[in-house]
Amino acid sequence: MYKRAVLLTLSALAVVALQTGCGEKALTYQTNIKPILEANCVSCHVAGSEGYEKSGLRLDSYEMLMKGTKFGPVIVPGSSVGSTLYRLVAGQADPSIRMPHGKAALPDEDVATIAAWIDQGAKN
Ligand code: HEC
Repeated sequence: MYKRAVLLTLSALAVVALQTGCGEKALTYQTNIKPILEANCVSCHVAGSEGYEKSGLRLDSYEMLMKGTKFGPVIVPGSSVGSTLYRLVAGQADPSIRMPHGKAALPDEDVATIAAWIDQGAKN
């Protein structure tokens, strides 16, 4: 009986350790976010292109991303749900302004990465 309880406790602890281990993986713009934006967003969000002309949002550097549109920031560090950029790629805004504009939605995995990165504080 006693042995069994110890074993159960140990395996429960191992699960918790594994879970927090994954949750603590620190995401950064350079490693995790830049490749997603370059593949899906930058073509329309650099100087001279459609997305930039309409919104003022450039997505080709961390500084520009954090600066946001001509109306203000699209990333609120620590709050994915409060971040316009996340809401647009997650399809939580009007479908007509879902991003990437006029293209297939991002894979769930990329949307989840963006959410986790913002929630961890949107580090460069
Ligand atoms: C095919 C071109 C195109 C692509 C690709 C694209 N965008 Fe956009 N984006 C636009 C246009 C056009 C607007 C302006 C929309 C409007 O105001 O009607 C815009 C606006 C935005 C805005 C500002 C919305 C607002 O008004 O607050 C954000 C944030 C945004 N895009 C993020 C992204 C992200 C992130 C990606 C990649 C996942 C992306 N865009 C890919 C064309 C594009």
